Amino acid sequence: MTDSPLATATAQILKAEREPGLKSVVKTFFDETTFTASHVVHDPSTKTAVIIDSVLDYEAASGRTKHTSAEQIVAYVKAEGLSVAWQLETHAHADHLSAAPWLQEQLGGKLGIGADIVRVQEVFGKIFNAGTPFARDGSQFDHLFRDGDQFKVGALDAIALHVPGHTPADMAFIIGDAAFIGDTLFMPDYGTARADFPGGDACMLFRSIRRLLSLPDQTRLFLCHDYKAPGRDTFAWETTVGAERAGNIHVHDGAQEDEFVQMRTTRDAKLSLPNLIMPSVQINMRGGHMPEPEENGVSYIKIPINKL
Ligand SMILES: [Fe+2]
Repeated sequence: MTDSPLATATAQILKAEREPGLKSVVKTFFDETTFTASHVVHDPSTKTAVIIDSVLDYEAASGRTKHTSAEQIVAYVKAEGLSVAWQLETHAHADHLSAAPWLQEQLGGKLGIGADIVRVQEVFGKIFNAGTPFARDGSQFDHLFRDGDQFKVGALDAIALHVPGHTPADMAFIIGDAAFIGDTLFMPDYGTARADFPGGDACMLFRSIRRLLSLPDQTRLFLCHDYKAPGRDTFAWETTVGAERAGNIHVHDGAQEDEFVQMRTTRDAKLSLPNLIMPSVQINMRGGHMPEPEENGVSYIKIPINKL
């Protein structure tokens, strides 16, 4: 069976290997409150940049938002003289709010996510009874990516790969020689993302991961989260295909799909939901925008009782 998006991605990574000018420059900002790694990746020749999986700070008790994390990104982009072409989400996050709309106001860039966000909107639109004002067609985003979509970041080649499993809409974005793989793999010593949210599928996650692991060994992988593994006391968010294939505790070379699905399902059943799942999902399914304000001008987050 041929997998032409994968072949194109592989060729892109090997080309960047041969021509150092086509390697991407990556700066990561780690939010210890939600364990999220946001990445700013840019083309060194044109200074064109992409911001991936930004974080809007949110205090659950008070319902207040802050831009402390996002301001660090703005400061970096300005100091480096970058121009932002894209704000990308690897998926609709359930554990943090996206700062993409605010960052778009500060820095510009088109907002992109996987095309299957419409399936996520359908599922969560129902769970949160979002009603007709909530469009379930992905129109909150500027661009919906499909598997194999190619785009440019300045002089760098880029391609989107659909890697469902954690959610139906997860995308990996490969920019130059670096892959931003969202919630699929975590560091080798921590394993893989959970697959038990509505629309998640452990079997699909395994296949998406094996697809990513067929990229060249030297491919740099940038993760969306790290929780520190037992015995490791620093956060880490960068690894390689080779390191994951050799040592990922869940999906190293030789790991079997049925055993993975069994392990993942058992483990997920014991995990509690992320602290910020209620606000995160309602805001991120709207492209990072708050729910439509009520007649008093205030936006509200709903909590469905006994639904999640
Ligand atoms: Fe996630």
